[in-house]
Amino acid sequence: MSYNLLKGKKGIIFGALDEKSIAWNVALRAKEEGAVFTLSNTPLALRFGNVKELSEQCDAEIIQADATSVSELEIVFSRSMEIMGGKIDFLLHSIGMSMNVRKSREYDDLDYNFYHKTMDISAMSFHKMIQVAKKMDAINDWGSIVALSYIASQRTLNRYNDMADAKAMLESIARSFGYIYGREKNVRINTISQSPTRTTAGSGVKGIDALIDFTERMSPLGNATAQECADFCMVLFSDLSRKVTMQNIFHDGGFSGMGMSLKAMTQYKKSLEDE
Ligand SMILES: NC(=O)c1ccc[n+]([C@@H]2O[C@H](COP(=O)([O-])OP(=O)(O)OC[C@H]3O[C@@H](n4cnc5c(N)ncnc54)[C@H](O)[C@@H]3O)[C@@H](O)[C@H]2O)c1
Repeated sequence: MSYNLLKGKKGIIFGALDEKSIAWNVALRAKEEGAVFTLSNTPLALRFGNVKELSEQCDAEIIQADATSVSELEIVFSRSMEIMGGKIDFLLHSIGMSMNVRKSREYDDLDYNFYHKTMDISAMSFHKMIQVAKKMDAINDWGSIVALSYIASQRTLNRYNDMADAKAMLESIARSFGYIYGREKNVRINTISQSPTRTTAGSGVKGIDALIDFTERMSPLGNATAQECADFCMVLFSDLSRKVTMQNIFHDGGFSGMGMSLKAMTQYKKSLEDE
């Protein structure tokens, strides 16, 4: 259902790879809500994903870029403003990758080149994106910037590995830059801390099925889906959230507020009986 929340707004969506991607769902909802936008991802993702299909569906041009490259980000912003005929109103950073996770390097045996890459791709790219936008004055007053985070930034979850450190940095960037960009241009910056979700990045975390089952049992409202996350992004991009900034907002069905639930306790007791 459309509420025309983004009517007349222009955006850039980073990180749509396939139908499961959070960014893919955000693009579909943004289109429904009346926005125009461009899509960006790496050349590799464009080759192996289905982004072309999304671009046709949303009538959105694709601008390829590695989000760790400042010069490529500059091209994304200048091309986007050219294509859409003006400054941007919303920006989605939905990017994450860890070679340590992919290669099953445990947290007490990290490869430091991989670690550096994790931080650059999953966190520092957010700073680069915002700094490029600000220097180019590419975002309209009262614009909205959102990145996707995860609760492992604040609490330890088995096997989330160096991505936990990247998410902590990502959330800190939202606060530090949120202050400056808010003060100077009324631009707001927030992170959404989403439930575990079966996407390509999500499935890279070993034991994701057990984690999804656990958080489903623990959350009073159940896990939030990628589509529900996209709905929430519409609120954060819209004028309805103009005074929300520098926040990490949990979109997790209540998981972050729980210690133990009846459903999880029942399951845990069963496993004790099996012993
Ligand atoms: N899936 C989950 O359980 C979950 C939960 C909370 C937060 N998140 C976060 O949501 C965001 C989106 O992930 P997703 O779950 O939709 O998975 P996804 O695999 O669909 O998306 C990750 C995207 O990052 C892109 N990417 C990787 N390296 C890049 C680079 N150098 N430059 C530009 N783009 C690059 C990939 O091409 C891909 O499109 C990530 O930040 C992820 O950490 C995911």
